[in-house]
Formats: sequence, C-alpha cells, structure tokens
Amino acid sequence: MDIKQLCKNLLKKKSADELIATSKKSELKKTLNVFDLIVIGIGAVVGTGIFTIIGTAIQGGPESVGAGPAIVISMFMAAIACVFSALCYSEIAAMIPVAGSAYTYTYATMGEFMAWMVGWILMLEYAIGNITVACAWTGYLAQLLKGFKAYLPSFIINFPLWLRSDYRSISVLCQKYGWDMHDKIPYLFDKIPICLNLPAIFIVIVLTMLLVKGIKESTRFASIMVGVNMLMIISFIAVGAFYVKPENWVPFAPNGFEGVFMGAFLIFFAYIGFDAISTTAEETENPQRDLPIAIIGTLVICTVLYVCVALVLTGIVPLGHIDAQAPIAHAMRVINKDWFAGFISVGALCALTSVILIYQLGTTRILYAMSRDRFLPRSLRLIHRKYRTPYVLTWVSGIIVILCSLFMDLNISAELCNFGTFTSFIIICIAVLMLRKSDPDRERPFKVPFCPWFPILGIITCGGLMIYSMKFLKTSSIYFPLWLLIGIFIYATYGYQQKRLEDQGITHRTEIQRKSAEKTAKK
Ligand code: ALA
Repeated sequence: MDIKQLCKNLLKKKSADELIATSKKSELKKTLNVFDLIVIGIGAVVGTGIFTIIGTAIQGGPESVGAGPAIVISMFMAAIACVFSALCYSEIAAMIPVAGSAYTYTYATMGEFMAWMVGWILMLEYAIGNITVACAWTGYLAQLLKGFKAYLPSFIINFPLWLRSDYRSISVLCQKYGWDMHDKIPYLFDKIPICLNLPAIFIVIVLTMLLVKGIKESTRFASIMVGVNMLMIISFIAVGAFYVKPENWVPFAPNGFEGVFMGAFLIFFAYIGFDAISTTAEETENPQRDLPIAIIGTLVICTVLYVCVALVLTGIVPLGHIDAQAPIAHAMRVINKDWFAGFISVGALCALTSVILIYQLGTTRILYAMSRDRFLPRSLRLIHRKYRTPYVLTWVSGIIVILCSLFMDLNISAELCNFGTFTSFIIICIAVLMLRKSDPDRERPFKVPFCPWFPILGIITCGGLMIYSMKFLKTSSIYFPLWLLIGIFIYATYGYQQKRLEDQGITHRTEIQRKSAEKTAKK
C-alpha cells in the first residue's frame, strides 16, 4: 500500500465549518447563566468519587498506597490538573459548538485515526466509568439494607458476597480477614469461580430500559439530584464535625509523597464530568465571561466540599477502618448514627443512579456520532420505531457495562476511566495549541488565558499524574494499552475501509451487493 496515501487518509480532517454545518445545535437559545452552568457542573461531577473512591484514596487499594488525611492535598492537585484542561475544553466548545465532545474536536484537528482513537478512549471514561458507579451503587444498597435489619429477613441483609461482588474484591477481603475463598464463592467444575454483582447488573438493566424509552425529564431529574447530593454532603459535614477526633489526623501523610500522588490520581475520578459545562457553550448568554467562572466555580465548590468531607471522614474513622464500599455511610455507623447512615445511603443511591444515567446517555451519544461517521456499523444506529431512541446502541452500552463488571472491580474500572479521561484532556490541550496555529482567524467566543502556558501546564499535570501512577497500578496499566490495541485493530479491520468507501461515495450496502454480484459471476 502507498504509505503516503495511508498517512493522508489517517490524517484526513473534518473541517470546523463542515462540523458546524452538520450540527443542528446552531439555533439553540442562549439562556444559561453562571448559576445554571454551576448546577450542571455539580450534577455531573459529584458522585462515586466522593461517596466511594475516597475510601481507597485515603486508605490504599490492592495496588496503591493511601494518602491518609493528606488526601486534602491530593484533592487540590487533582483540581489543578482539571482547571487547565477545562479552560481548553471551553475554548474549543465555544468555537466548534457541536455534539460529540472531544471526539468531534479531535476530528477537526488531528484527523480520522486520532478521532477514532479518542472516541474509543472516551468509552473508557463513559462506559467503563459506569462500572465503577454501578459497583458503588451496590455498596450503598448493602448499607441501606443494613439499616433495615430489624425489619428485613437475614438472607436479604446478608446477601451472599458472591452475588454482590466481583472475584477480585472478594479475594482482597479473604486476604484481609483470612477467610477461605472456597467458603465464600461457589466454583463451577471446582475450577471456575462464580461471582456476579447482581445489584449493579440490575440497576444497569433498569436504566438501559428507561433510556430506551427516552427520558425527557433528564435535566429536571439531574437538578433535583444536585439538591439531594448537596443536602447529603453538607449534613454529613455538619453532623460529623462534632465527632471528629483530631488525633485521627496523625500521621497526616502516612505514605508520604507516593500516597499523596496516588491519592490525587484516584480522587481525580471525583472531578470527572465538569467538561459537561463546556459543551453548553452555545447555549450560554456570555460564554467568554461565564464559562471560566462556572468551571472554576464548580471546581472550587467541589474542592471545598470534598476537603471538608475528607477531614470529617478521616477525623471520625481511624485509618485502616475506613469502609471501601460505602465509606461515608459507614462513618455514620461508627458514631452510632445508624438512621443517618440510612439517610446518606438513600442520597448516595439517588446521586449514583443519576450519574449512571448520564454516563450511559454519554456512551450512546458518542457511539452514535462514531457510527454516523461510519467507524461503526450503520445497523447500530437503528432508531426504535415507537420511542425514537437509538435502542441498539443503548443496549450495546448497557451490555458492555454488564460484561465488563464480571471481571473488573470498582478500583480497576475507576483507574481505567481516569487513564482514559487524562488522555482525552491531554489531547484537548494539544488541540487548542494546534487550532491556534492552523485556524487563528476563526471567531473564539472564549479564549484560554495565558496560551500556550495553560494548555502546556494541562498536558504536564495530567500526563505527570498518569505516568506516575502507571508505576504502581499494574493491572490497569496492562488493560489500558490493551484497550488501545483493540481500538487500533477495530479501526484497521473495519473503520479504515469504511472511510475509504465513503471517500469513493460508495455505501456499505452497495459494496456488499457488488461483492456478491462478483461472486455469482465467478461461479
Ligand atoms: N465525578 C463522577 C463521580 O464521582 C464521575 O461519580
């Protein structure tokens, strides 16, 4: 094959004008103000990170050491890494206000191959990130059921571990408490362990069905969830503050620099989602002023809340006793506030349900854009006759989450999600630098201040956290390149050819018809 032509094809871009022309968003009303944007931001951000991952970030996981009370420093580090990329997102979102997020922006700057890869990487953020949230959902359900132990039969309260957890998490627990794995898990043919996270599978199926039906009320639902979220978190801080024992904050950083850095990598998950703000650029009254205020405002509000939660949590529960599945509700049990633990669990379940819903919607939307660009088969884009929703893609994304939950636990999926998100943030920072050179005259309703320094700092902070953590996270550091290789394989065997047929103006169907006609003629 002609290498020159191959490179030309791989780098083939969609022009910004073409993207804007295909977008129907251009007539959207400019109605959003700073307050609306912050509500959107908090709704997309607050979830599993602060309700669950914080436990592992403080205490350490199977492959990483914990930050201890110094998690508060990790939180500032993660927030700083987010600010630079968030500003870059805003510049491109305001300049090319088209759905599809980083995938679409990459198509405009780095061409076909990178666009596919970014779309594929975004699946880590959305679909694999959803496994984390679904696993966290199980943790809070278990805490909620415990609150009803006086009323519910014991087989529901003590739901078997192998029906509400994955193999890896059970083996960690067995190691920690010296249990025999064979007592906890049934084995098929004495060899294959059977573990199913049934509550996680259940919630994903229910929400997939809901999404297939179409949810018009999603925005209203999300803003109610923001209120519930804030109420839970603020009341946890207010009640818990009275039970803090400052001696629990010593030692402050039991694992030094390594713990703080790994804590920053893990807690980064708690900040993911703020890019949702930048996608509303076209609907914002004054994007140049409001977008940076909303992005920085969301990050500041979340950081302040997160730091307070971390201080209360580490002040109440001694290090080593923080629950990995539902740390916030468990902390309330430690101070004998069982009813309050139940209250927190209900709030957490609502928050996590809305995150799963938004992420699943995101997965479907990106896959839809990729299928429209012919990277994925057309048949995936089928629309439900009655509900007018992309039901095939909605089910595909639900099934991906269910299948992956069989062999990934909360930590691995969160780490992979972070790797994916860091990568897409870095690509967005690079895209800003490239577009400033290649398309300097295009109108930019919002411009990243101190360019090129802010995008460069975004690349350094995100890249630094990602590369450092790879040293320790052995499992996800193998899964991540594997995911990239699978992406390259799918592109090489399907997407690339489809794009060439598109270049020639040939549809997939006519190509199949041509091939079958050739075969018949040969016979
Ligand atoms: N930031 C989102 C959460 O913590 C992904 O659930």
